[in-house]
Amino acid sequence: MNVFVTGAAGFIGGSIATGLIRAGHQVNGLVRNAEQASELAALGINPVIGTLEDSALLTAQARAADAVINAASSDHRGAVEALLEGLRGSNKVLLHTSGSSIVGDASGGLASADIYQENNLPEPTVDKAARVAIDNLVLAAAKDGVNSAVICNTLIYGHSLGVKRDSVQLPRLLKQARKSGVVRHVGPGRNIWSNVHIEDVVELYLLALTRNRPGTFYFVESGEASFLDMTTAMARALDLGEPQDWPLADAEAEWGYEMANYGLGSNSRVRGRHARELLGWAPKRTSVVEWILNEMV
Ligand SMILES: NC(=O)c1ccc[n+]([C@@H]2O[C@H](COP(=O)([O-])OP(=O)(O)OC[C@H]3O[C@@H](n4cnc5c(N)ncnc54)[C@H](OP(=O)(O)O)[C@@H]3O)[C@@H](O)[C@H]2O)c1
Repeated sequence: MNVFVTGAAGFIGGSIATGLIRAGHQVNGLVRNAEQASELAALGINPVIGTLEDSALLTAQARAADAVINAASSDHRGAVEALLEGLRGSNKVLLHTSGSSIVGDASGGLASADIYQENNLPEPTVDKAARVAIDNLVLAAAKDGVNSAVICNTLIYGHSLGVKRDSVQLPRLLKQARKSGVVRHVGPGRNIWSNVHIEDVVELYLLALTRNRPGTFYFVESGEASFLDMTTAMARALDLGEPQDWPLADAEAEWGYEMANYGLGSNSRVRGRHARELLGWAPKRTSVVEWILNEMV
């Protein structure tokens, strides 16, 4: 297949693009600059220089491709509209990348017993309403001849394939710990996130390219862990003392509002049946704690 991938120099998009090349597909990858373009070319990916604001470019690339994977942003509505413009009526696959902070509760590091299923999503918080509206736009496009899917990733761990790029959550904890010599989590760190290894994520996107049922929403997870479990493992891996609680205000000062409240300070507990049942996805890696202890640093 000839696949157009946005965010092709990013953690998720770059890993997927590399996985596609390894599986024998051709990839046109959207990147923002010449440096990223040469990194991608070295991996066998055909770089397309542009941004998510270049609607005409996105529409033309979508029209020319056999399938499209949007992995640059879960929050850019204009880009999704432009891609859909190029795909309507084609029955081609569009895999849109979302993230499970759409069910995040911004609990300040407290635990929650709430677990969400794909067919029973909660009303989003005000902060996440726009992201959910984009997801719904993608799903609704199934009625207009687009083989669309929302791939809603949880906390992704592991090292990227091909491109040199980190994920968004654990690397921020790691950076703070290295800088200060103290591993910290938001509040008491009892909050829990579902999670998945990047290699299993790539596998899922590849399966969805050929097996998706139009308009399907997928949670992508292969286990869950509390932040306290993850920071405890991180402290061990770094040979530092016990992880410490951090007031939300300090966490916001370090990581910003979004990351402190949602990425690192919320619960996001979900279960994904669709990938297993519809795609035959069988994740191979199931312990983020083992990965932190043995492979992260
Ligand atoms: N990693 C996770 O655990 C995870 C889980 C769930 C959801 N998500 C979401 O999935 C999306 C991708 O995540 P990621 O971890 O792959 O992030 P990432 O490593 O930052 O990759 C995003 C890529 O998209 C590019 N990009 C962003 N905005 C763009 C724009 N306006 N025009 C052109 N290119 C643009 C970035 O370009 P530059 O390199 O030039 O910045 C980057 O290469 C994000 O919205 C993230 O919130 C991530």
